[in-house]
Amino acid sequence: MNLYISRQLLTICLVFSCLISLCYGRVNPHFKVKAVNLGGWLLTEGWIKPSLFDGIPNKDLLDGTEMQLKSVTTGKFLGAESRGRTIIVANRSAASEWETFLLWRINENTFNFRVFNGKFVGLDTQGNVIDVVAAATVPGSSETFQIVRKSNDLSRFRIKAPNGFFLQAKSAGLLTADYDGDGGWGDDDPSVFVFQSSGGPRGEYQVTNGYGPHKAPQVMKEHWSTFIVEDDFKFIAKNGLNAVRIPVGWWIAHDPTPPKPFVSGSLHALDNAFRWAEKYKLLVIIDLHAAPGSQNGWEHSATRDGSQEWGKTDANIAQTVAVIDFLCARYAKSPSLHAVELINEPRAPGVTLDSLNKYYSAGYKAVRKYSSKAYVIMSIRLYGTDARESFNITGRMKRAVIDVHYYNLYSNVFNDMTVQQNINFINANRSQDLSYVTIPHGPLSFVGEWVAEWQLQGATKEDYQRFAQAQLNVWSRATFGWAYWTFKNVNHHWSLEWMINNGYIKV
Ligand SMILES: *[C@@H]1O[C@H](CO)[C@@H](O)[C@H](O)[C@H]1NC(C)=O
Ligand SMILES: *[C@@H]1O[C@H](CO)[C@@H](O)[C@H](O)[C@H]1NC(C)=O
Ligand SMILES: *[C@@H]1O[C@H](CO)[C@@H](O)[C@H](O)[C@H]1NC(C)=O
Repeated sequence: MNLYISRQLLTICLVFSCLISLCYGRVNPHFKVKAVNLGGWLLTEGWIKPSLFDGIPNKDLLDGTEMQLKSVTTGKFLGAESRGRTIIVANRSAASEWETFLLWRINENTFNFRVFNGKFVGLDTQGNVIDVVAAATVPGSSETFQIVRKSNDLSRFRIKAPNGFFLQAKSAGLLTADYDGDGGWGDDDPSVFVFQSSGGPRGEYQVTNGYGPHKAPQVMKEHWSTFIVEDDFKFIAKNGLNAVRIPVGWWIAHDPTPPKPFVSGSLHALDNAFRWAEKYKLLVIIDLHAAPGSQNGWEHSATRDGSQEWGKTDANIAQTVAVIDFLCARYAKSPSLHAVELINEPRAPGVTLDSLNKYYSAGYKAVRKYSSKAYVIMSIRLYGTDARESFNITGRMKRAVIDVHYYNLYSNVFNDMTVQQNINFINANRSQDLSYVTIPHGPLSFVGEWVAEWQLQGATKEDYQRFAQAQLNVWSRATFGWAYWTFKNVNHHWSLEWMINNGYIKV
């Protein structure tokens, strides 16, 4: 081989390896993720695509709905007595925590009611069986009620107890399960209650349990195959982005037979995502966004009723590690797998630092069993005291990343901010927050969620452009990169696709 040809070969090889490193970011030390979240796809968030819930019968009565019931005869609310034996009374003039019942849905007409201390409403099997108490820790047949709604006024409820009688409010303020027959739905009918609700979560639990085991598989399959498609990956790659962060729920590891009410199919959709990512040279960050038991009690961690149980036992932590193990075993060989995020937004104080660090150490090892290259992302605890609190364990890890989410929302601090004050907050405060977690020999820093949206009303397109640009400038200092929340959303500013198509953001 003459010198000329070997030089040319060398050049070709160099160009080729540069291309590979540019494409996959494995070799280039300056590589940074510019990603978008695929929120609301493999893990439901009702506000991202409300129409997903449209076909659910009694869709205002989903799991976790907070409901209050006022007797039409006494004009008083039902409430649980908080002291001693927890009887349900019908004499409360105002409705607050102890007058709020959380629904567990069995089917569209059948429910359990949970009171503020976590107990379930049922008939008093220990005493007078027509009395209504909140005693059970787990609901059974004595805690299962039917709701009957007035057909031309859905706010009017009658509630049939497991003994076959309707509940009624006695004038003395007691609630009993001994009303027989049909009182005619009028204001003199002691078995009629007016329902009011402050809503509830609208996540994967609600949508799948709301549709029920026969319809949910079909509805979810349709959603997964249409909400994000191959063309979206093409669009993402064409518009200056190099990665996607994909939120998933823990039941994905149990496909094709996930525990009820979750349904099969999100794993197949994730397989597609990897195929498309490989085709369009995009990187993938798998993000365990809903851990078993829920790590924050919000709909996006698939809570049933707002409760937060994740991390309370070693078995629960081991179950979560098994999900990471499963995902890595399946995708570690893909050239597109860039990072695995062990858990999204664990919330303090429900999630303790101790259980989180225990999980992070075990989760890290699970990733390393399959890949020495994949980055391991750890989310800071929300409402934790110190964003560096896990740094003493990440110090011993390779390719560790710390994930922080920055929104100019969800706090009264932002209520009256002007455009410029919002931008100043990014430039001063967020910049400082980001520096605090971006330290030499520390984990890499990742702004894994942000959005060009604020509390401000009536801002102009130019205001949004400036706000987005200010964030892009500051987030460019994150050593791992950033990810916009989210790609598709009926709320336009929350959709990066819309923001790019309408000239609000250019990456
Ligand atoms: C409501 O009724 C219960 C049971 O009869 C009674 O103990 C309680 O004091 C009453 N509360 C009010 C506010 O009247
Ligand atoms: C890490 O530091 C926290 C306090 O910030 C402490 O509670 C925890 O035990 C430490 N963990 C290890 C593994 O050193
Ligand atoms: C933002 O930073 C400025 C300057 O350091 C400080 O005065 C202000 O209190 C901070 N604002 C908030 C809401 O933390």
